[in-house]
Amino acid sequence: MTTTSPLMQQALAARDHAYAPYSQFKVGAAIRAASGRVYQGVNVENAAYPEGTCAEAGAIAAMILGGDTVIAEVAVVADATVPVSPCGGCRQKLAEFGAADVPVTMANLVGASRTMTLAELLPGAFEKSHMGESTMGEH
Ligand code: THU
Repeated sequence: MTTTSPLMQQALAARDHAYAPYSQFKVGAAIRAASGRVYQGVNVENAAYPEGTCAEAGAIAAMILGGDTVIAEVAVVADATVPVSPCGGCRQKLAEFGAADVPVTMANLVGASRTMTLAELLPGAFEKSHMGESTMGEH
C-alpha cells in the first residue's frame, strides 16, 4: 500500500476529525474488513489524559458495530517525522480481529510509509487459545 492508496486516503480523511487538543497529535485509521467494507477511526482525547482512545480502537469499534469481525488490511496516518506506529494496546486490539499476515501500513503526511504484518508488530501475541477453550463463551 502507498500513501495514496484508497484505504490510506480514508485514514487521511478521518484524521481531519480527530479530537486531540491535548497532544495536538491527530491520528486517522482505516480498516478494510474481509467483507470489503471500510471503517474509519480517529483518536479522541479528554482532560484525563490516559483516558483517551486511539484511532485504531475507534476504527475497530466502528467495524464491530458495522457487523464485521475480520480485518483484512489496516492504514494509520499522522503528522509524524516517521510513519506512525500503533501503540502496544492497539496491536493487541488489532490482533484480536486480524490474522498474522494482515498488513498494517503506517504513514505520515509527507509521503513516507511503512508496511508491517500484525505478526511483525506483535510477535507472540496473547490469544484466546492461551486461555483454553472453556473460557471462551458463546457470542
Ligand atoms: N495515537 C493513536 O491514535 N494511534 C497510534 O497508533 C499512536 C497514538 C494517539 C493517542 C493520543 O491521542 C495521541 O496519539 C498521542 O499519543
